[in-house]
Amino acid sequence: MNTQIVKMERNNLHDEDFTKAAELIRGGKLVAFPTETVYGLGADALNEEAAKKIFEVKGRPEDNPLIIHISSIDDLARVAGIVPLRAALLAEKFWPGPLTMILNKNPMIPYSTTGGLDTVAIRMPSDEIARKLIKKSGCLIAAPSANASGKPSTTTAEHVYADLNGKIDMIIDGGSSQIGLESTIIDMTSKETIILRPGFITKEQIEQIIGDVVYDEAVLKRPDEGLKPKAPGMKYRHYAPRAELIIYEGEAVQVTKVIDEEAAKKEEIGIKVGIIATDETLHTYKNGITRSIGSRKNEVSIASHLFGLLREFDDIGVSYIFTESFNDMVLGCAVMNRLLKASGYRVIYV
Ligand code: TXA
Ligand code: MG
Repeated sequence: MNTQIVKMERNNLHDEDFTKAAELIRGGKLVAFPTETVYGLGADALNEEAAKKIFEVKGRPEDNPLIIHISSIDDLARVAGIVPLRAALLAEKFWPGPLTMILNKNPMIPYSTTGGLDTVAIRMPSDEIARKLIKKSGCLIAAPSANASGKPSTTTAEHVYADLNGKIDMIIDGGSSQIGLESTIIDMTSKETIILRPGFITKEQIEQIIGDVVYDEAVLKRPDEGLKPKAPGMKYRHYAPRAELIIYEGEAVQVTKVIDEEAAKKEEIGIKVGIIATDETLHTYKNGITRSIGSRKNEVSIASHLFGLLREFDDIGVSYIFTESFNDMVLGCAVMNRLLKASGYRVIYV
């Protein structure tokens, strides 16, 4: 299959730019598109065959449900059954934006989209390109992150191309994703509101609107036997670079010193090491292939470069990636959740 690439500029969008992409979606084809979080791999959510194709091209387990993307609040009634008041309040506050809510599904939504569940994940993205595509297609768009299953999510059209070229019909290139981490997912189908996946919208922000919410056990803990994450996707190996990733946790000065020493030891025996540093620490490393992920004074810069950096180190062909920890940031929970999964929970305390 020939994958068409279409460049779009967010500050210069015209309705007719979306004619072809919308036609493809309506015709049951797959189109990758940018969102403010990561790139999505979109298909008509009501078309069972189209949804099946998403699982096929990603190599995604069929019990891992898809998020349905909507372009206006009026679409909500087409996707969900009863919408609880606290969900309506969160929608009003955070939509369009990087928040996904799990609600009971409308009978119209096929089980092939929800992985056999009676609940459904819904999100209204704030990215202008994403919303225009949904609107123009007239469809509800089911979209997982546009990466090969198990690999880091994609934050540029180039990443999507690397994983899915020849397998999908179109990639809309809208440049780099602003946030770079997938949406916060909250389950609203029981009395308690539960965060299944941390993201840019934090627990504290949600609590300001609806009061107490809790994290699902699987968010920061290693998924030991018996622990069953409520988001089926959280149980799979995720975000994983080919290199072995190790997180160093502790006091900043000590962490950079130990990472540098460990990198030197590996290099001495001819092993390539990548180091995830920050603007603040980059100059302190003498060994390893160093890259700054961003500045600790600008947390979004760190979030938005994480997946790209993991991919870059794989392209370079390092055997190890050593990273500083980001626990102390507001976005720490979201960033560390990805790093822990990508590392297989390998943390060294120094
Ligand atoms: O930011 C995002 O959320 C991106 C963009 C494209 O919108 N999408 C994304 O989709 O990250 P995906 O498929 O990579 O991750 C969706 C997660 C999976 O872990 C899945 O198991 C969970 O959401 N999920 C979907 N429907 C669910 C449901 N009904 N109940 C529990 N978890 C659900
Ligand atoms: Mg994903």
